[in-house]
Amino acid sequence: MRNRFNNITSKEWLPFQKSWFIDQGDEETYRSNLRFFLRLDDSLPQNIFYFGDNQGEKTIKKVAKSLNIKVFSPKSIQKIPELQLILIDIRRQEENLSLSAYRKLKKEVLEWAQTLYPYLIHRRFLSIMHQNTLHRGHYLPFAWDMSKMLATGLSRRDEKIGCYENPHASAKKYAPFTQATYYFSYFRKDEHSPGEFSMPDINFFQKIKLEKNQFKTEVPNWKIFRPKRRNKNEILHPAKFPEEVAQFFIERFTRPKANVFDPMSGTGSTQLAALQTNRNGYGTELSAFFIEIAHTRITTLVETLTQKPKHKLLLKDARRITKRDFPPIDYLFTSPPYWDMLNMKGAENQATRKAKGLQLNYSDDTHDLGNISEYDEFVDELCNIYFKLAQKMSPGAYLTIIVKNIKKKGKSYPLADDLAWKLQEHFTLLPEFFWLQDDLRLAPYGYGYTFVSNTFHQYCLTFRKKTP
Ligand SMILES: C[S@@+](CC[C@H](N)C(=O)[O-])C[C@H]1O[C@@H](n2cnc3c(N)ncnc32)[C@H](O)[C@@H]1O
Repeated sequence: MRNRFNNITSKEWLPFQKSWFIDQGDEETYRSNLRFFLRLDDSLPQNIFYFGDNQGEKTIKKVAKSLNIKVFSPKSIQKIPELQLILIDIRRQEENLSLSAYRKLKKEVLEWAQTLYPYLIHRRFLSIMHQNTLHRGHYLPFAWDMSKMLATGLSRRDEKIGCYENPHASAKKYAPFTQATYYFSYFRKDEHSPGEFSMPDINFFQKIKLEKNQFKTEVPNWKIFRPKRRNKNEILHPAKFPEEVAQFFIERFTRPKANVFDPMSGTGSTQLAALQTNRNGYGTELSAFFIEIAHTRITTLVETLTQKPKHKLLLKDARRITKRDFPPIDYLFTSPPYWDMLNMKGAENQATRKAKGLQLNYSDDTHDLGNISEYDEFVDELCNIYFKLAQKMSPGAYLTIIVKNIKKKGKSYPLADDLAWKLQEHFTLLPEFFWLQDDLRLAPYGYGYTFVSNTFHQYCLTFRKKTP
């Protein structure tokens, strides 16, 4: 059975929907995207517009030829035809790019998006391959910034993370971190897209200086975690993260005996990971139900430990933490509610939980951040919690937040980017890391209709407390 969107079978549709992939070279990446975003039959003009460098243009032309697709580019265009796809690949241009050169590139992309908009067929996509990058020690989130600009004219739909197995070494001088991922961001022309592009008034670029050895040990840019199955107690929580992830970060950002803190502890995964690695585990949690599970897990673990690190978990709204509740924080590792996603009945994962009779959201408590329905209000409340906790953090302490960008009712909300942008007021942003999932079953979202990925990547956003 073939479909109206791109003529491919459901078997071919499914693998493309995974929200991350290991990069197998430009030819393969271009091919899979052309195959997915074009309907290859006589009913539509077989045209795309490509914006990239010479190397990319040569490759796309080769791939397009084999699929009978015509490629137009800034160099070759005279009269713009109707387009099934606009593909922009500026990954290589962005390598080591200065802020002023980036601004020029952004303006060029804006102008092309504006010029081409009327020619893009309704409900077809503009896709951009781009990256956040390091330039002379500054971490510049170009990709997030460019996406904000493109979202002024088109509907922001989705993203995929391209992962290099052998990353570029350009960043080595300033941090052992290496640029090992890029973003594939997807925008659609549709009934919600304004069609007018503008430069949003945000400042992602605060000229952050990354110091040498900013990371205590090497932190790569992505890792596939295959955590062990959750037991029957742990599964009662709708969004627990695995201790493996917490442990990975705790070991990299703290020394033994450090005070690790999580203001939204859920089932106590952060504390468990801390205690297991001989760090102290502290935190709060709003739900009495989950904190009970956390207490049981912590007590059981501590009985088995020879060294007895300290721990304390309070049943409390994270907004009400006082100075006297806990000692200073050396590392804050946490994951917030992903806005009010758990209240969305059709959300990813919800159907399965419902079928098993499991609790779908955290609580109906109005203090639960997962029950705030306004996106901006949710982001502000959350940031205020981290800002308040910053006052309890030791100088130079790190903060890592596990979070996802969100898709709700056909709209995308870049929660990770927005947090990164707002938190810069009191924290220095470090390069992001992706916890990748490959042990989940793919579901054919949007089959035959439009592109909707299965989100199998979680952002691990790391910051350092700014010193005054
Ligand atoms: C993503 S979950 C954290 C899961 C936890 N990391 C784990 O592995 O079990 C977010 C948690 O935040 C809690 N929460 C929501 N609003 C809160 C608030 N105002 N204060 C403290 N905790 C809150 C929820 O009850 C939920 O357990």
